[in-house]
Amino acid sequence: MQRSAAEGYQQDSLSKQKVDGEDFIQTDVCPKAGDVILDLGCGTGELSAYLAELVGPRGKVIGVDPDKERIRVAKESHSQIENLSFTEGSAPSFFRMDSNLYDIVFCNSALHWMPEKQQVFNGMFSSLKAGGKIAISYVDRLPPFEFNAYMLLNPENEERIRKEMFQCETKTKIEHYCLSSGFQIIKHYNSCNPFAFESIQSLLEWHWSTTHGVFDLSLVTEERLQKYLAPYVGENGKPCLDFRGIKEESPGYRLIAVKEAANARLKTLE
Ligand SMILES: C[S@@+](CC[C@H](N)C(=O)[O-])C[C@H]1O[C@@H](n2cnc3c(N)ncnc32)[C@H](O)[C@@H]1O
Repeated sequence: MQRSAAEGYQQDSLSKQKVDGEDFIQTDVCPKAGDVILDLGCGTGELSAYLAELVGPRGKVIGVDPDKERIRVAKESHSQIENLSFTEGSAPSFFRMDSNLYDIVFCNSALHWMPEKQQVFNGMFSSLKAGGKIAISYVDRLPPFEFNAYMLLNPENEERIRKEMFQCETKTKIEHYCLSSGFQIIKHYNSCNPFAFESIQSLLEWHWSTTHGVFDLSLVTEERLQKYLAPYVGENGKPCLDFRGIKEESPGYRLIAVKEAANARLKTLE
């Protein structure tokens, strides 16, 4: 049976977003037992499940994503985890009702899909408990292996994907939104791209699943593919599809910032 784009994302992201996200969680997020965490743009919930394990039975994780099908897959795949729930929703509107609820807002590889980022940061700020933190990974532009795929392999859809779906902004702007919302930035650094593909087919399917099925595989002709792969062909005549560690292919950043506790602010004013 043919898999849906959401099922495709779940499988395809295991060796990419999941590995990278777990590294981010271990390095910078460091959740404590009992924490309440919002996983914003949770996709199919693999990292939400990992966070739920780390916060233990006294803690709680809520995954939110606007993609109905990804939320369905997340609920179905992780139904046995008691301290984990998923809900369909979209930032910034999702935050309207929230205040002082979470210890951590985690957002892995999703901020660059969200419009109205100042409102997103304002929402994260008001939804956090005093002393809580945000942990965000994002890209400030599309890496060439993605950008060129849309331009060369799917010119019919490139405008929709690049302009309507992706909402990349510079590190300087992200930092500005973050500070304007009242956060204190603890760390903001360039991170390595986790993308490596075993075959041309798996690379193409990745483009399809990560764009929620908008990248159309049937538009990829042999001629388009040759042009797209040309820069990656090595001396053996085969394309190298391991983009890890290549600087131009790594436009990713990790941002950790805190909502200072009110008493800490008073102390600095004294
Ligand atoms: C690349 S996926 C990352 C999913 C997951 N965090 C992971 O690491 O596997 C980006 C996710 O952001 C979600 N997204 C897009 N716009 C959003 C918005 N406005 N609010 C919340 N999530 C959004 C998408 O539906 C998608 O599932």
